[in-house]
Amino acid sequence: MQQLIKWIDFSVIGDDRGSLVALEANKNIPFDIKRVYYLFGMQSDLPRGFHAHKELIQVAVCVSGSCDILMDNGKDKGVVKLNSPSQGLVIDVMQWHEMSNFSDDCVLMVIASDLYDESDYIRNYDDFLREVNANV
Ligand code: TYD
Repeated sequence: MQQLIKWIDFSVIGDDRGSLVALEANKNIPFDIKRVYYLFGMQSDLPRGFHAHKELIQVAVCVSGSCDILMDNGKDKGVVKLNSPSQGLVIDVMQWHEMSNFSDDCVLMVIASDLYDESDYIRNYDDFLREVNANV
């Protein structure tokens, strides 16, 4: 069973001109980075996600604004707030996740361990529970 909530604290290089965070494969991001995507222009009352991945590992970083993310490993569930560009939340394999409560200025950047592959998604919650429990 995957640990439910795994944060990564990024070092912030800051001076009078502002702040800088560098994300590097197999250093502060725990895999080879194959893809980066970002979500913006969300509506606070239109949640997204509602899936798990079989093999993909991701790190979600709210680079602007805030949102909530419900994490569910099939046994435990918890909601955490993403509101810092200096913290990443690991979305590990077989972690059902739902993002909601987006601020108007929310930009959610996601670093992924592989290219987009729809066949890696589990989009049905009952299928997710069946697969998690089959692998216990
Ligand atoms: P999806 O992963 O379902 O979004 P969310 O989990 O945030 O609700 O993706 C939405 C759509 O975008 C879906 O049609 C697949 C497509 N998509 C890509 O083409 N490439 C990508 O890298 C991602 C993440 C999604």
